[in-house]
Amino acid sequence: MDIKRKLGASGIEVSPLGLGCMGLSGSYGAIEPEDARGVIRTALEAGIDFLDTADFYGRGGNEELIGDVLAASSNPAVVATKTGVGIGPDRKPVLKGHPDQLKAACEGSLSRLRLEAIDLFILARVDPSVPIEDSVGAMADLVAAGKVRAIGLSEASAATIRRAHAVHPLAAVETEYSLMERGVETNILPVLRELGISLIAYSPFGRGLLAGGLSTDMSFEAGDFRQYNPRFSDANRAANLERILQMDDLARVHDATRAQVALAWLLAKGDDILPIFGTRSPERITSNLEALSIQLSEDDIETLDRQFPAGWANGDRYPPAMMALIDGEPA
Ligand SMILES: NC(=O)c1ccc[n+]([C@@H]2O[C@H](COP(=O)([O-])OP(=O)(O)OC[C@H]3O[C@@H](n4cnc5c(N)ncnc54)[C@H](OP(=O)(O)O)[C@@H]3O)[C@@H](O)[C@H]2O)c1
Repeated sequence: MDIKRKLGASGIEVSPLGLGCMGLSGSYGAIEPEDARGVIRTALEAGIDFLDTADFYGRGGNEELIGDVLAASSNPAVVATKTGVGIGPDRKPVLKGHPDQLKAACEGSLSRLRLEAIDLFILARVDPSVPIEDSVGAMADLVAAGKVRAIGLSEASAATIRRAHAVHPLAAVETEYSLMERGVETNILPVLRELGISLIAYSPFGRGLLAGGLSTDMSFEAGDFRQYNPRFSDANRAANLERILQMDDLARVHDATRAQVALAWLLAKGDDILPIFGTRSPERITSNLEALSIQLSEDDIETLDRQFPAGWANGDRYPPAMMALIDGEPA
């Protein structure tokens, strides 16, 4: 892919659309490992050179899938991996932002990914029990040791981003951003732009709602995270899907799918936005990439902005225990 976007001031460039690999470890329904490797291979062959994973996706298995594919592929990729979230004995999430934990996590990710250095090492959630300066200081040590090329945070508040960036430049912040979730535009995006940090837009299809593959009467497979997500309760899903029908007129004008319009809208929001979409389907990779050739006019963008203003979606984007892990949200 000729067009590239920058990861902050790190000097690393990536394809404008990245592949989010979380769903390849069962978060949104089952998939066989060989099929998951096939999806990653298809993405690389189609020109996607930016892969997003985490050490807690499939308990490390997601990184292993990427490691397997990259070891056998002639297509290089920039790999972003996240750490800092675990599951406690009571099955509740625990945060692990202590320097020793981050350094140990880096070693684990390097070995599963079979890489000499992680391109982008991201603290998945800010650990309130550890000063952010200490967490980022450990990540900076990993850069100095040549184990990590660039660092980032996920779901961090504007104040935390400033404190972290003062310790070591952040290349990117990863946060949910889509036509369903625009909270980032108010407080986070202006700070990222002031500091020259890219925004990795995760769940660009609102976990599938915007992409057109879900219905009001469907039920989710066991293990599908959306079973517990308030935005997907029967009533909220019905209301959200009803609203999303408003995209269809614009999609028709551009002879595009809803998924392509959702990505084109994000891409049009700035060269510093890097949407990472997820899919278990090789065909959807090819189709979603066609978003790159959709030119939305200013009128189109205004229409979508008006149809889907910040806060329109029904239901919180996470269950309460996971909302409490978002930096700046009440615990
Ligand atoms: N930092 C964080 O806290 C965080 C949190 C969540 C996610 N992420 C990252 O962001 C990545 C992407 O987000 P996501 O996977 O949560 O959600 P997403 O990309 O918004 O949506 C994924 C869903 O969309 C469906 N889909 C994709 N293309 C489609 C198409 N053309 N037509 C119909 N349905 C389509 C997929 O179904 P199929 O699989 O059946 O195609 C899947 O269920 C993740 O993989 C992960 O790497 C980060």
